[in-house]
Amino acid sequence: MLDVQALTKTFGDKTAVDRASFAVDRPMMIGIIGRSGAGKSTLLRMLNRLNDASDGAILFEGHDITALRGAERRQWQSRCAMIFQQFNLVPRMDVVSNVLHGTLNRRSTWATMFNLYPQEDIHRAIEILDRLGIAEQAPKRAEALSGGQQQRVAIARALMQDPAIILADEPIASLDPMNAQIVMEALRRIHEEDGRMVIANLHTLDTARRYCDRVIGMRDGRIVFDGTPAQLTTGVARDIYGAGAGFSEAATSTQIETLDQTLLEEAKAEALV
Ligand SMILES: Nc1ncnc2c1ncn2[C@@H]1O[C@H](COP(=O)(O)OP(=O)(O)OP(=O)(O)O)[C@@H](O)[C@H]1O
Ligand SMILES: [Mg+2]
Repeated sequence: MLDVQALTKTFGDKTAVDRASFAVDRPMMIGIIGRSGAGKSTLLRMLNRLNDASDGAILFEGHDITALRGAERRQWQSRCAMIFQQFNLVPRMDVVSNVLHGTLNRRSTWATMFNLYPQEDIHRAIEILDRLGIAEQAPKRAEALSGGQQQRVAIARALMQDPAIILADEPIASLDPMNAQIVMEALRRIHEEDGRMVIANLHTLDTARRYCDRVIGMRDGRIVFDGTPAQLTTGVARDIYGAGAGFSEAATSTQIETLDQTLLEEAKAEALV
């Protein structure tokens, strides 16, 4: 499906991503971990073609993504939707319009200027919001929502593009543990139910272990680990994070694991009313 070959990105004399190679033969949920500056965001940005690669290739279903230009490049960008740590919504615009922005790629400039959306798109947007447990937020301004709700709006906007791949750059880094768990579960469900590939940069080990089928570890721009959560032992993690003997897993933990289950169930029930 996806074949990344010796992908490299240099900024001046700094090599941000250094000959990264991995292949994915079926839709999986993949977590990318590594310390700050390891090259995780740069790798995602190249996959989405927000950044051009300096060298190497990205093949998706046999097509060379690195070579796409203009309209073809934009088309690719809607097939692999991206979500970000800071949600990137239009704060003063209502939720449903934010979600409908996910259809921008296939609408005319005029329709966009006058905020004209086909009825069927509006229905779909509401359906997707409903699926994520936030349909009742649809008329509110995005800025009136909690962080976890805003991230779910961003996921809804991504789903509007009907993407084959969802790329998520630290999707839960700005969220409290409860919202982090709700957002990760939403991504997991989208992967399992829709068969979409999810590739997420995660800053904590426990999240990657808990939600992903496969974990890729980066260090200094290179992929130094690629395996299952079970293979990701403390020793391997220590190597990825370049930490000494004093390495503690707790230092990379979001404490999702220790979250009070009752609180979580309550929050979910609230999201679903
Ligand atoms: N636009 C840029 N210009 C120059 N250097 C850059 C640019 N973007 C990234 N870098 C450098 O490339 C390296 C990798 O950065 P990147 O943002 O991919 O790391 P990261 O793993 O996502 O880190 P973090 O966990 O802090 O988000 C860093 O050394 C960074 O300073
Ligand atoms: Mg980053």
